[in-house]
Amino acid sequence: MTAARLRLGVNIDHVATVRNARGGVVPDPVRAALLAIEAGADGITAHLREDRRHIRDEDMARLKREISKPLNFEMAATDDMVAIALRTRPHASCLVPEKRSERTTEGGLDVIGGHDHLKFVTAELKRASIRVSLFIEPSMEALEAAHSIGAPVVELHTGSWCDSLSHGETERAAHEFERITRAAQHAAKLGIECHAGHGLDYETARTIARLPQIVELNIGHFLIGEAIFVGLPTAIRTMRAAMDEGRAHAV
Ligand code: PXP
Repeated sequence: MTAARLRLGVNIDHVATVRNARGGVVPDPVRAALLAIEAGADGITAHLREDRRHIRDEDMARLKREISKPLNFEMAATDDMVAIALRTRPHASCLVPEKRSERTTEGGLDVIGGHDHLKFVTAELKRASIRVSLFIEPSMEALEAAHSIGAPVVELHTGSWCDSLSHGETERAAHEFERITRAAQHAAKLGIECHAGHGLDYETARTIARLPQIVELNIGHFLIGEAIFVGLPTAIRTMRAAMDEGRAHAV
């Protein structure tokens, strides 16, 4: 059996981070999104944070209007964000935990403690035909909770795996990758579509592409960083090639 095509969602938040450093209008994250699509991105991800530190409301509205590929609206499960998502009508909403003091999304959602609230929000978004994804830790408990919440999609947090590799902690990395592998298999058993993301680079994307149950990777920081040196289209094409190479060896 051949594995499904692995989609690449490009997160353009950090183009807005650079723009906001000067308070002006350049670089424009929507221009980056259009360029990313031209270079082979299958979709665009943007996180409208409560503190609007990078993406702003108007960016999200423009993305929805101007891009030709699916928009994945990353958001906290708050009333304000749900109202914006219902107005924007993105293709998908990825619900993430959010802490003001964090530099990035540090862990998966508390799908057990927040079960009832997440179930309510998921149902509300689904009623508006928005595909809901829950950003979770790669654990059986989190998957079972996501299933009970009624999420059609989960995104597995790959941050711990990527961190352990970048710190040269090979044993921990092997353990983390095993967790991701088992979680992806369990998602498939539950009939949940499985995505992955956080901290991925060319190498880790190539490796994770071998897991056939994972059908989408969402990648931001590394690609925008690479774009400084090689340009966004080259960074995206190189990432696409790494993913295809890994996928060709799906296990
Ligand atoms: N997926 C989710 C749910 C995220 O919160 C993030 C970070 O915004 C990413 C993917 C992308 O992570 P990175 O920027 O480390 O590639």
